[in-house]
Amino acid sequence: MKTSRTIGIGILGFGTVGQGVWKHLTEKKSDLESRLGVKLDLRKVAVRNLKKKREVKISSAKLTPNPFEVIDDPKVHVVCELIGGTTKARECTLRALRQGKVVVSANKALLCEHGPEIFQAVRQHGGQFLFEASVAGGIPIIKAIREGLAANHFELIVGILNGTCNHILTRMGEDGLSFADALKEAQELGYAEADPTLDVDGIDAWHKASILAWLAHGKWAPRNRTLVEGIRNIGPADIDFARRFGFALKHLAVIRRNFEKDWMTVGVYPALVPNGDILARVSGVNNGITLRGDVVGATTLAGRGAGQDATASAVIGDIIDAIASLTGSARQGLSLDDLQAREKQGQKIRMAELDEIVSPFYLRLSLLDKAGVSEGVYRIFTKHKVSIARVIQYEHPNQGRGTVTLSTYPVSERKMGAVLAELRRLKTVLEEPFLLRIFSPES
Ligand code: HSE
Repeated sequence: MKTSRTIGIGILGFGTVGQGVWKHLTEKKSDLESRLGVKLDLRKVAVRNLKKKREVKISSAKLTPNPFEVIDDPKVHVVCELIGGTTKARECTLRALRQGKVVVSANKALLCEHGPEIFQAVRQHGGQFLFEASVAGGIPIIKAIREGLAANHFELIVGILNGTCNHILTRMGEDGLSFADALKEAQELGYAEADPTLDVDGIDAWHKASILAWLAHGKWAPRNRTLVEGIRNIGPADIDFARRFGFALKHLAVIRRNFEKDWMTVGVYPALVPNGDILARVSGVNNGITLRGDVVGATTLAGRGAGQDATASAVIGDIIDAIASLTGSARQGLSLDDLQAREKQGQKIRMAELDEIVSPFYLRLSLLDKAGVSEGVYRIFTKHKVSIARVIQYEHPNQGRGTVTLSTYPVSERKMGAVLAELRRLKTVLEEPFLLRIFSPES
């Protein structure tokens, strides 16, 4: 009788995602075994605290406080790195890869900061590094770019990549919750990162956007050439403006590529998205990504972008791929060698200059309530030839100030930056002006 090969799986980190992976792997074990023609050995899990009470059932014999015990176990072939962070996670990932093992990772920060070193270790030692869970939770966006859409060059990739921000903005916009209450709710639902500032200040989305830009164009966008803004400063006047003029407020990641001029831009920021755009209807914890490819046209993928089950789905998808390749099934789509060739081409791409990045803008100003103040503001727009499209003024009786919200026609980042710099110098502008981009696929 033919005995099937046994594949050992080890997990590093047993937080929300680690427990989700364990739970679903345990439940689906026999189904996966018969589909893949292997025996699965869910061997070991490295945890920080052996005594901690956990929601999933696991025998204490499977737990170890030492991640190296999991990695170095010769019967562990696939190591799931779900620790997070970039120090211990880097050490563990490289240790496993140097033994030629497969590492499945949800760690976008690690990939962004140490991608070249990780792939070097893969090439040198013949292992694999799979990272579907690092971007957009349960949506198979990495596979979509590497496999289903591999025929395309992408001039635009635009997405809602942070479930926590999208949950917060949806609850603020549709249900009137405060930022703090909506954040607390997202944390309770298990969407937020251990440090929620990574979510609300745009860092998590920036990591994910960098990975997509690298995958699509072969270039890691430098942090100092990427606009990274979070959602902390969004207030009721911004939500009101969006509602009145037919926009949804979304935290977007925008990757544009100009093939003629060979530039790329990567930015993550809150933006006003016209209600007619499919992304305006991606609400709650969901993520959505529209890719505009030269062959396929615009394709949008949407689904749960954070949370235990969605992320576990992506991790298990990678485990299944890993087992297929360990047992000799063919892999299709862009291989690591293809990505290396893409990186060579990516070397000639430059980051776009500020004159080349154009969009309509939205601006909120807190102004001294006195005759002639608005005129002083508008004069600055006129001087820089920035045309205003819409304005709303709100009065705050007896406070000596008013709020003005306005939108502009499309203008470059450089011009809008110059307007902003002059506005900041006006004594009649009482608070830091609050600027948002209005998203349009065309600009
Ligand atoms: N904290 C992330 C989010 C989930 O809210 O989207 C993991 O990437």
